[in-house]
Amino acid sequence: MMSKATWQVQPLSDPADLQRILELQRANLATSIDGEELRSQGFVTAVHSLQTLQQMHALAPSIVAKAGAELAGYALTMLVEARRFVPILDPMFQLFERLSWRGRPLREVSHYVMGQVCIAKPFRGQGLFDELYRGHQAAYRERFELLLTEVSERNPRSLRAHERVGFEPLHRYRDEVDQWVVLGWTLR
Ligand SMILES: CC(C)(COP(=O)(O)OP(=O)(O)OC[C@H]1O[C@@H](n2cnc3c(N)ncnc32)[C@H](O)[C@@H]1OP(=O)(O)O)[C@@H](O)C(=O)NCCC(=O)NCCS
Repeated sequence: MMSKATWQVQPLSDPADLQRILELQRANLATSIDGEELRSQGFVTAVHSLQTLQQMHALAPSIVAKAGAELAGYALTMLVEARRFVPILDPMFQLFERLSWRGRPLREVSHYVMGQVCIAKPFRGQGLFDELYRGHQAAYRERFELLLTEVSERNPRSLRAHERVGFEPLHRYRDEVDQWVVLGWTLR
C-alpha cells in the first residue's frame, strides 16, 4: 500500500514557490484539462503573472503546502488592496461592496479574499484542503473577521470541500465566463 503523503503548511516564504504556483495553476486551468477531469477534479480560472503574484505576496503571503521542495498545494491570499494590480478581479471587489454577511454590509466587516486554491494531484483527498484553510485562519484571524472566496458552479468538488470546511454561500451570479457562488467563512 502507498504511504500517506506528508507535507508542511505554512505562509509562503521561499520566493521560488511563486513560480511553482504558476506551474500548478497552468496545469489546472480549465483550458489545459479535458472535460472529464474538469468535472471530476475541478479546475482554476484566473491566470496570474509572476509580477502579480509578487505584488500580492508583498501585501500578505499566501498559504502553501510543501512536500520537500515540491509544492503540494496553495491557497492564495488576496487583500482588498490587491484590486489595484489585478484589474480582472475588480468587478468582484465592486460586487463585494454591495453584499452583506449575516445582515451586516461587507464594508463594515473586515475581510480579505482567498483568490485561488489548488492541490497537486498526488495530494488530493487527504485532508490538505482543510489544512490550507486552517493555515489561513492561523495567519489572518487577528487581522480579519471574514474570508471570502468564489467558486464556479461547475466545480462540485471544490464546492463540496468548501462546504465541509464551513463556508456558507452569500451570493450567486453569472458573468461572461461562468456562474459563480460567493462563499464566506468566519475566521474567529
Ligand atoms: C478542488 C480541490 C482544491 C479540492 O481538494 P481535494 O483534496 O481534492 O478535496 P477533498 O478530497 O478533501 O474534498 C473533496 C470533496 O468533494 C467530494 N467530491 C469529489 N469529487 C466530486 C465530484 N465530482 N462531485 C461532487 N463531489 C465530489 C469528495 O467526496 C469530498 O467530499 P467529502 O469530504 O464529503 O467526501 C482539488 O481537487 C483541486 O486542486 N482541484 C483542481 C483545481 C480546483 O478545482 N481548484 C478550486 C478552484 S475554486
